[in-house]
Amino acid sequence: MAGSTWGRRAALGLMAAGCTPGRPPAQPHGPSLRAAARARGLVFGTAAQAALLRQDAALRALVAAEAEVLVPEYEAKWGPVQPREGEWNLAPLQELASFAAGAGQRLRGHCLVWHEGNPDWLLAALAEGPARARRVMEDHFRALLGATAPVMREWDVVNEMIANPPGSDNPSPTPGDLRDTPWLRALGPGYVELALRTARQADRTLRLTLNDYGMEADTPWAAEKRARLLRLVRALLDRGAPLDAIGLQAHLQMREPFRPEPFIAFLRELRSLGLSVSLTELDVREPDLLAPGIAERDALMAAYLEQVVRAAIEGGVRTVITWGLTDRDSWLVSMPAVARPDGAATRGHPYDAELRPKPFRDALLRAFG
Ligand code: G3I
Repeated sequence: MAGSTWGRRAALGLMAAGCTPGRPPAQPHGPSLRAAARARGLVFGTAAQAALLRQDAALRALVAAEAEVLVPEYEAKWGPVQPREGEWNLAPLQELASFAAGAGQRLRGHCLVWHEGNPDWLLAALAEGPARARRVMEDHFRALLGATAPVMREWDVVNEMIANPPGSDNPSPTPGDLRDTPWLRALGPGYVELALRTARQADRTLRLTLNDYGMEADTPWAAEKRARLLRLVRALLDRGAPLDAIGLQAHLQMREPFRPEPFIAFLRELRSLGLSVSLTELDVREPDLLAPGIAERDALMAAYLEQVVRAAIEGGVRTVITWGLTDRDSWLVSMPAVARPDGAATRGHPYDAELRPKPFRDALLRAFG
C-alpha cells in the first residue's frame, strides 16, 4: 500500500474545514452534544459517510459541531478498503480523517472482521482453509492498521460475533455461543482470539474492541445474548487475549421492554473484568404500529432513549456514539429489513430529515446531565 500520507492529509484537513486544531466550529444549536458530554466527563460521537459529508455543508457543520468521535459508517470495512486482493481504496477513509482533523475529532475504526460486506475474493480465500484465512487476516490488518495508525487509535476488531438466541430477530440456526460465519468456518471458534492477537501484533497500543448488538433490552433473548458475550469475554481474558473494550451497538427497539437493573448489572460485570464499555451505534427503532402523531412519537422515543442512556452511564459507559445524526441518512429508513412496515420514516436520531433538532437530542442532553 502507498506510504502513509495520513498525517499530512489530516493536517491539510485543518485548513479544509476552516478550523484551528482541536477546537470545534461554532455551535449551531446552543450547547453541543460533545460539549455537554465533555462537561460530564463523557464522550459523544456519531457515524458518518464521506460521500454524505462531501455533498452537504449543513451536515458537515452539524457533525463537526456535535461529535467528538467520528466513526466511518462504511469506509473502513473490508469490502470498501480491499475490494480485490491487494487492491486498496483508502481515499474515502482519508477524506474522513481530514474532516475529523479539521473538526478536532478522534476517528474510531469499524470494523476489521465481520460476516457482512465481505468481497467475493475474501469469501473464496476463507473457504480455502485456515492457513489462507490467517494470511489474509494478517495482511489486511497489517496494511490497514499501519496506514491508519496516525489517526485511528481504536478499532472494532470483530463485529457481531455472538449467535442470536431463540426468540430474537434472526435467531441463529446453529447451536453455540458464536455466530456461524465464514470466519468461524475457516478458523474455528478461536478466530476471535486470533483476530485480537493479530491486531495487537500489528499495533502494540491500539485499543481493541469487540462490538455486538441486541444486549440492552429486558427480554429473555437479550439476557441470553449478554450471558453468551460474558462467557466469550471471560474465556478470552482467561487466555490472556488482548481485549480492551466492549462496544454495545444499542440499536434500540421500542417494542422491547427495558429495565435498568439487568442492563446496569451487565455493564458492571464487564467493567469488573477490566473492560471499558461504550454505546457504539445508538439509534432507536419505533414500534411497528404507527404511533398517533410525530410529536407523540418523538416524546415516546425520547423517554425510552433517556432511560437507556441514563442506565448506561450509571453502569459505567463513558462514550455514547449514535449511528448517524439525522433521520434523513439513516439505515433505519434506507434498509427495508428495519424500515417501518407502515411506510413512515423512522425518527430514530437526534436530528430530523431537515436537520432540525428533535426531542431525541434533548433526551441525550438530559441524560448527559
Ligand atoms: O457508497 C456506495 C455507492 O458508491 C454505491 O453506488 C452503492 C451501491 O450499492 O453502495 C454504496 O455503499 C453502501 C454503503 O452503505 C454506503 O451507503 C453499501 O451498498 C451498503 O451496503 C452500506 O450499508 C451499510 C451497512 O452497515 C453495510 O456495511 C450501512 O450504511 C450501515 O449503516 C450499516 O451499519 C451496520 C454496522 O456496520 C454494524 N451494525 C449494524 C449496522 C446497521 O446495519
